Amino acid sequence: MDKVRLGVLVSGSGSNLQSIIDHIEQGLIEAEIRVVISSNPDAFALERAGRHGIPAETVIHADFADREAFDRKLVEILRSRSVDLVVLAGFMRVLSPYFLREFRMRVMNIHPALLPSFPGLHGQKKAFDYGVKFSGCTVHFADEGVDTGPIIIQAVVPVLDDDTEDTLAERILKEEHRIYPQAIQYFAQGRLTVSDRKVRVSGVSGASGVMHNPPLSI
Ligand code: GRF
Repeated sequence: MDKVRLGVLVSGSGSNLQSIIDHIEQGLIEAEIRVVISSNPDAFALERAGRHGIPAETVIHADFADREAFDRKLVEILRSRSVDLVVLAGFMRVLSPYFLREFRMRVMNIHPALLPSFPGLHGQKKAFDYGVKFSGCTVHFADEGVDTGPIIIQAVVPVLDDDTEDTLAERILKEEHRIYPQAIQYFAQGRLTVSDRKVRVSGVSGASGVMHNPPLSI
């Protein structure tokens, strides 16, 4: 099977980008990164791309008249690299309807909370402050809303009594690094079908088991 050609959009540290690179290099996902595009010239993600010989470009929104003009530039780069799937990995810009039409159900995003709870910025902090007993992360297809698209995979982590915002965020990030490559691999294998809001993954039997936090004692 041909490898799925990825365009990874970043703005910051790029630890999710790194995890995708590592999974590709270990032969665990049938993908290749055709280009990394950063909205921030100082993003550490650019350095990560460089270290692995991946083409990288910086596109700064302030250089464009409006959001659609910025997005047209992104689409032009992605098309010129024959990208099949756009992977948002800490990309801090909201995509326009134009972009999402161009790559319909071909844009994935990762969010550090169990959607639809705690969308938007600082999902980990919002969950921590709310006092939930479980949080986690979500990979979903992007639509025109903020963190509202059809959900592909989620990971659940407990929130512990002695957690801080940072220890919780760290636990969540570890799982981000596992579920994003998995979602990409499902896509690469052609196993995802979307109908209405529901994403089905062919060939899996689904999660089983119930978790309690704190554990039941009766
Ligand atoms: C992650 O927490 C991700 O869930 C959110 O942005 C952060 C990106 O981190 N969308 P990194 O740049 O991949 O390290």
